[in-house]
Amino acid sequence: MESITFARASQLTSRTGSPNGRLVLGLGAYPPEVREEALEANRANWDERTPIHLASQFYDIDGWIADGRGPRHWEVEALGDVGGLSLLHLQCHIGLDTLAWARAGASVTGLDFSPRAIEAARDIAGRAGLDRCSRFVCSDVHRAVEVLGGETFDVVYVSLGALCWLPSADAWAGQVGQLVRPGGRFYIHDVHPLAWAMADDELEIAHTYFEQDEPFVDDSDVTYADGEARLTSVRSYEWNHGIGEVVTALIRHGLSLVWLAEHDWTVWRRWPFLEPTGDGRWRLPADRPSVPLTFSLLARR
Ligand SMILES: C[S@@+](CC[C@H](N)C(=O)[O-])C[C@H]1O[C@@H](n2cnc3c(N)ncnc32)[C@H](O)[C@@H]1O
Repeated sequence: MESITFARASQLTSRTGSPNGRLVLGLGAYPPEVREEALEANRANWDERTPIHLASQFYDIDGWIADGRGPRHWEVEALGDVGGLSLLHLQCHIGLDTLAWARAGASVTGLDFSPRAIEAARDIAGRAGLDRCSRFVCSDVHRAVEVLGGETFDVVYVSLGALCWLPSADAWAGQVGQLVRPGGRFYIHDVHPLAWAMADDELEIAHTYFEQDEPFVDDSDVTYADGEARLTSVRSYEWNHGIGEVVTALIRHGLSLVWLAEHDWTVWRRWPFLEPTGDGRWRLPADRPSVPLTFSLLARR
């Protein structure tokens, strides 16, 4: 499998008109058309990944439908009984993590900007007999409040591989803060920004830890799920967000932190030397330094 490479977004930034070709504007002044262009490239990339994921062993859709799997045990420990609650899953992809909460009794809404992913999520919901307690909405997460007509939810939920696709933790948190109902909860489990900043093949810092206006460009023609299929919309743009930036953004937008946990495990084999724990997680071996691979947090509005 070709390794994922990141490079500076020189092509993108050179269009900003800054004299030396580097982006010098703060996010507030980041030209909207450049940001839109990056998000549109990401959307096309995710649209193309969707059929590959649907056919993959990684997602194993038929197995998921058959085995009745609910949320992961650490998610249940975080949110408890969700029976009868409304739950919104932001960046839901093909809806498996969303529908797992429907199996646990929640009335779920999944939102994603990839039309093919949303179409697939609706189809899986029907095949799993969960269409009456689920709905899927196609929208950029930055427009979620508007598209959902100001509706608020008991729980807003985000699962692995979401934040890196968004340019600004603050803009994202501005949506989250308005989507959680007063007294409701927000829960996220995502890649830790320290793990994101590391090289693909070793525990070495290779990329910035903090949020920067300039995205990283990924020109890989493969996706993380198995399969030989190659992408044609190869270019995608990513941003890292430090833990402090994520937490502060949520607090700025009206949420109170209940707890924050940094985990020495993840749910996929991020590096070949990770060891399986036996319950779907992967850890660093004992002879390597222990560093956070994912994080989760619970907040209240
Ligand atoms: C790695 S996947 C999330 C996987 C997820 N944890 C799951 O349930 O399988 C990332 C998702 O984010 C979505 N996404 C990326 N940028 C987005 C945006 N600006 N608005 C809405 N969805 C976005 C992609 O379409 C993709 O489905």
